[in-house]
Amino acid sequence: MSSLADGVDAALELSIFGSFTRVGSALRRKLEHWTALEGRTMTDRVVVMSGGTSGLGLEAARSFASMGATVEIIARNEAKAEATCAELRRSSGNERVSFVVADTGDLAALRRAAADLLRRHPAIHVLIHNAGALDDARQTSPEGIELTVASQVVGPFLLTGLLLPALKAAAPSRVLWVSSGGMYSEPLSVDRLEMSADDYDGTTAYARAKRAQVTLVELWAKKLEADRIFVHAMHPGWADTPGVARSLPTFRRLVGPLLRTPRDGADTLVWLAVDDGAPLTQSGLFWLDRRARPLHRLSSTRRSDTPEERERLWRWAVEKSGYSPA
Ligand SMILES: NC(=O)c1ccc[n+]([C@@H]2O[C@H](COP(=O)([O-])OP(=O)(O)OC[C@H]3O[C@@H](n4cnc5c(N)ncnc54)[C@H](OP(=O)(O)O)[C@@H]3O)[C@@H](O)[C@H]2O)c1
Repeated sequence: MSSLADGVDAALELSIFGSFTRVGSALRRKLEHWTALEGRTMTDRVVVMSGGTSGLGLEAARSFASMGATVEIIARNEAKAEATCAELRRSSGNERVSFVVADTGDLAALRRAAADLLRRHPAIHVLIHNAGALDDARQTSPEGIELTVASQVVGPFLLTGLLLPALKAAAPSRVLWVSSGGMYSEPLSVDRLEMSADDYDGTTAYARAKRAQVTLVELWAKKLEADRIFVHAMHPGWADTPGVARSLPTFRRLVGPLLRTPRDGADTLVWLAVDDGAPLTQSGLFWLDRRARPLHRLSSTRRSDTPEERERLWRWAVEKSGYSPA
């Protein structure tokens, strides 16, 4: 990497606006000479991804399908999943694009989906936890867990555990989590992770769930090191997706044309899934624009991130999900 590229990257990182908008990805892409992902082949790889029916996940699924991968989308809406897969098969010419139905907050549905996936795919090369939403109204999962944390922390934790046999069989394999730069605002606090009806706020619940995701990524990475299963978190910056239009309309209007395209937002996710360089030499990191980024920008959140709190988070996830890794 040139010193100019390093300097520009450091300057961008100082300003969130520069780093997270399309300014950041455009400058880094040019100065760091990102290798093109088009033309890569994944014909021998199976990719399982939640949230492939919209936004970043749809763009990533499109890339995987056109690279020839076998793509399995985990989707909550059967009709939408059917239409998405048909469109992806048509546009990519790849027939191996299909789906299983599950809301990622519904643990029983995830158990059924995982059993189905394991039956059909003894080896899974890439598992991507992408499904996510910022909901203003508090809802609970069928198991009674607040839905933000159920669908973005507990469900993905369970699914990772259930699919381990197939991930081990495909090693070196990868588990990728789509987190958010919003997590920088929240400390790690297990007691405050699941918000009650009295104190629920969608933005805070979302940021806490995303903080928990990056911590779990570090913990899973250590546990799966010997199996050569590489675990990464990433964030897409700010991308113009249906999810942002629905949940953050004012933000979308303000940032306007500086938002990234969904394709741009999904770049690092696709890179982590297909590149056999850096993504297979390190594990447990948090990426933006193909570079590992710090987990903390504030001293207050850094102080909260103790070994004891991490251990508590792991125990909490085990208890809530009912899954205990061997
Ligand atoms: N766009 C950004 O700027 C941005 C920034 C930071 C992080 N992210 C993260 O990026 C990921 C993708 O977001 P996006 O912007 O692409 O949003 P999006 O356009 O709303 O797409 C979200 C996808 O997740 C699915 N999904 C949501 N909740 C689900 C659940 N409980 N069970 C199953 N599927 C579920 C949606 O399914 P349906 O099609 O059925 O709705 C959809 O396929 C999320 O994790 C989000 O937090 C996005």
